[in-house]
Amino acid sequence: MFSKADGYERFMGRWSRLLAPQFLSFVGVAPGEMVLDLGCGTGALAALLRDTTQAECIVGVDQAPDYVGYARQKVGDTRTRFAVGDARDLSFPEATFDKVFSSLLLNFVSQPSLAVREMVRVTKPSGVIAAAVWDYSDGMELLRAFWDEAVALNPAAEALDEARMQLCRRGELASLWRQEGLNEVCDDQLSISLEFSNFSDVWAPFLLGQGPAGAYVAGLRSDAKAALESRLRRRLLGAGPDKPLTLRAKAWVVKGSVGFMVGHRGGRSAR
Ligand SMILES: C[S@@+](CC[C@H](N)C(=O)[O-])C[C@H]1O[C@@H](n2cnc3c(N)ncnc32)[C@H](O)[C@@H]1O
Repeated sequence: MFSKADGYERFMGRWSRLLAPQFLSFVGVAPGEMVLDLGCGTGALAALLRDTTQAECIVGVDQAPDYVGYARQKVGDTRTRFAVGDARDLSFPEATFDKVFSSLLLNFVSQPSLAVREMVRVTKPSGVIAAAVWDYSDGMELLRAFWDEAVALNPAAEALDEARMQLCRRGELASLWRQEGLNEVCDDQLSISLEFSNFSDVWAPFLLGQGPAGAYVAGLRSDAKAALESRLRRRLLGAGPDKPLTLRAKAWVVKGSVGFMVGHRGGRSAR
């Protein structure tokens, strides 16, 4: 479900680019810092870090080779580099980074506490690790509408509804941060709006196979796809004519600082 960078850009990358400035101001980056963008996808946050901060070095890591290739091509420069890797098993030495961001990553990682431990391990003492996830339950209007209509047509789709994913409800990220020993844990909710030129601008990206919703649509027969398109259109536009639409999305964010005692940092030993 994360395999085609162009499709991801059209489907979710445009949301990520709107979320990134708020996520960056929630965390902050000082001149000269080393920054990791974990689960960097196609590079929306890394591009913003490159363009708006004086970070010394920005490294993006993602498990999807096509996304990493896209980010490298579009965002890579002398300060910014990208690598394929698993968030739960990073190749960086202990205490490499000042800030570690993970934007819209952790709900997709099985055993996310392993990823958090790696984030802690590669962060310098008193550095900050941070995460953002969509509030799928009712804050992400596009995906809420999509899954509600998918389930109305096919109750079995309920098991795939992203609202059921881990870490996406109020307080869950902060609990994980405290459980993993982060200090000064602070969470918040961010809110963005995205404008669509018409219904086709909303629907066409679902046909590109990216993310859980795109993967679900890719598995439907053409009549089921058409039924879902029709329901989603009615949900968003009513019976009226096609027109521009604005949809809102909310994300939960958390940040916390890493303690000084390596033995208390919960990560793996340095390699
Ligand atoms: C919803 S996308 C978010 C991408 C990007 N951060 C953004 O804001 O657009 C989730 C990303 O997590 C990556 N991912 C999922 N599990 C991963 C893992 N274990 N290690 C590294 N990346 C992972 C996927 O390949 C995908 O690019």
